[in-house]
This record gives sequence, structure tokens and C-alpha cells, in this order.
Amino acid sequence: MLEFGRSKKGIFSCPVLTNDEVARGIFLMRLLAPEIAASVRPGQFVNVKVSPEQDAKNKLQTATCHPPLATCFPLLRRPFSVCEVDRQAGTISLIWKVIGPGTLALAHHQPGTILSIIGPLGRGFDVPNSAGPLALVAGGVGVAPLPILAMELAARGKRFDVLLGSRTADEIWGRSELAALGGDVRMATDDGSAGEKGFVTKLLEKWLQENASLEAQVFACGPMPMLAVVAKLCREARMPAQLSIETMMGCGFGICMGCPIEPAAGVEKLGRYYLACLDGPVFSAEAIRLS
Ligand SMILES: Cc1cc2nc3c(=O)[nH]c(=O)nc-3n(C[C@H](O)[C@H](O)[C@H](O)COP(=O)(O)OP(=O)(O)OC[C@H]3O[C@@H](n4cnc5c(N)ncnc54)[C@H](O)[C@@H]3O)c2cc1C
Ligand code: FES
Repeated sequence: MLEFGRSKKGIFSCPVLTNDEVARGIFLMRLLAPEIAASVRPGQFVNVKVSPEQDAKNKLQTATCHPPLATCFPLLRRPFSVCEVDRQAGTISLIWKVIGPGTLALAHHQPGTILSIIGPLGRGFDVPNSAGPLALVAGGVGVAPLPILAMELAARGKRFDVLLGSRTADEIWGRSELAALGGDVRMATDDGSAGEKGFVTKLLEKWLQENASLEAQVFACGPMPMLAVVAKLCREARMPAQLSIETMMGCGFGICMGCPIEPAAGVEKLGRYYLACLDGPVFSAEAIRLS
């Protein structure tokens, strides 16, 4: 294991335990990762080398020169939010949508495959101590960091509502999982095939009206345009929102400068752009410029 500084993050070899398609084009992988499971916080992420370690080692032994391209393609690791954790069993799960070569490679891994994973990385959600109403809002596979957050809220005895948005019914995951953790789950789909027809931000508008309270808070993850609307609605309702941002990333721990996020006007005292991997991926909606 490599340690970065005094934090608990490191590079770990993690066996795949299960890997299943849980909704159309959406996969959920459970990995044995005891070190990460012991310390990961809601909203943190891991950076995954999507080509398996075993393959790379075998091919390296037989290759006379450089390893074949397939063993290191794609070159860069891919970031994924930790979706669920079982601290006793030492497992974490990741959920992702297949959109390109990295996510497609991950979808093919069988149980027993060993993946190199760096984590846990980044700053996660600040879990509130207040007793106010809480909304967990997801657009599509932005549901990823919500189950681990819901687990933490449930463990602290907090009630929360869940607003799940998706293009269509067969691309939704998380309804029963989040309900089992105590969430009151409402859904919206673009085509009306599940829940209300329209964007999840329509559900949020209603929720903000119904839950006007000084202690209310919103936690959201999804595509940038959705997060921009969440930020606007919460600002108008004077309600704090924490947003988990999914930007392009390289290293995942502050070295490559590949994940800049512009601070909002008035919070430039930092003197630089934020780095999504170090300062985020969770930001207060008021701290960053989203459009
Ligand atoms: C902190 C963090 C957590 C994430 N968590 C999850 C998660 O839990 N589940 C999940 O499905 N995805 C998550 N993502 C996004 C995920 O990392 C990308 O989908 C993945 O890297 C794509 O790899 P690929 O090789 O399949 O596709 P690529 O070939 O890399 O990309 C395919 C297309 O999608 C675009 N794209 C790739 N990544 C992003 C991105 N982050 N934002 C916008 N456009 C992008 C590319 O420009 C390209 O057009 C997260 C991203 C970050 C930064
Ligand atoms: S991904 Fe390299 S600095 Fe953020």
C-alpha cells in the first residue's frame, strides 16, 4: 500500500465480488476494499484503473518490450463516487453508466478480477447535525453518492426525502435501496414512464415550497445543467445546497491540475481555481460558478 501524506488514502488491489447490470446500461460492482471501507466518508470517490491488475502483470511477464496497449488502455484512471459501504464486511460498491471505453471495460469484469483503486479521495458531504428537513436529489447515475449518505443519515436517526430523476423508468436505480434506508422516495422521468413527467428539478421546486425551514438542506448530484438549476432554486429559496460535481479528472489527488472549478464571484479569496479532486467533489452551491 502507498500512503499519501498522513491521510488514510492509498493504492489498493481490490478483488471484484459482484458486477451486475442493475438498470439499462448501468452497472453496480461490489469490491473487497477493507482499507477504503474503513475510512470512506459520504461523497468521497475512488480512482479506478479499469484494466485488471492480473492481466497487466501476466502480459508484462510475457512481453519482451512494452506491455501490449490493451493492458494499460485507457491510460488514465476513472473516478467514481463510493455508492455503498459495508464497514464490517470491508466492501464498497460503485455504480456507473457505460458511456465510453473505461466504463465499458469495467462492465465486463467478472468476480475475482483484481482492480487497482486509489482512495478514498476528495472532500465529501458535510452531514448536518440539525433536525431540519433534508432532500437528496439525483439526476440519472448521479444517484451514486446518495446511498452512502443515506446510510449515514439513517445511522444518525435523521429523516430525509429522496428525489430521483432519470430519462426513463428502466434507467432508474436506487428507489428500493434508498427507501429501505428510510428515505421517502419520489421520482421524475423525462418521458413520464415512472413518477412525474419532467425533470427532477420540478420535484425539487415543490419540495422547497413544502419544506421552507431555516434548517432545511439539499444534497445533489447529477449533470452540470441540473446542478445549475438546483443551485438557482436553492438560492431563491435561501436554502443551503451541497453539490457533488462530476468533472473530467486525471490524477484524482491534486497533481495534474486537470479538474479546475471556477469559484463564484465574491469567493475568489482563495486566489486560484478550486480543484474538484481536492477541494471537492462536493461544494457548497454558493462557492462555485456553475454556468
Ligand atoms: C468525482 C467523480 C465521481 C464520479 N462518479 C461517478 C459515478 O459514481 N458513476 C458514474 O457513472 N460516473 C461517475 N463519474 C463520471 C465518470 O468518471 C465518467 O463517466 C467516466 O470517467 C467515463 O469514462 P469512459 O472511459 O467510459 O468515457 P470517456 O471516453 O472518458 O468519455 C465518454 C464521453 O463522456 C464525456 N465525459 C467523460 N467523463 C465525464 C465527466 N466526468 N463529466 C462530463 N463528461 C464526461 C467525455 O468527454 C466523452 O465525450 C464521476 C466523475 C467524477 C469526477
Ligand atoms: S484530477 Fe489531477 S488535480 Fe484534480
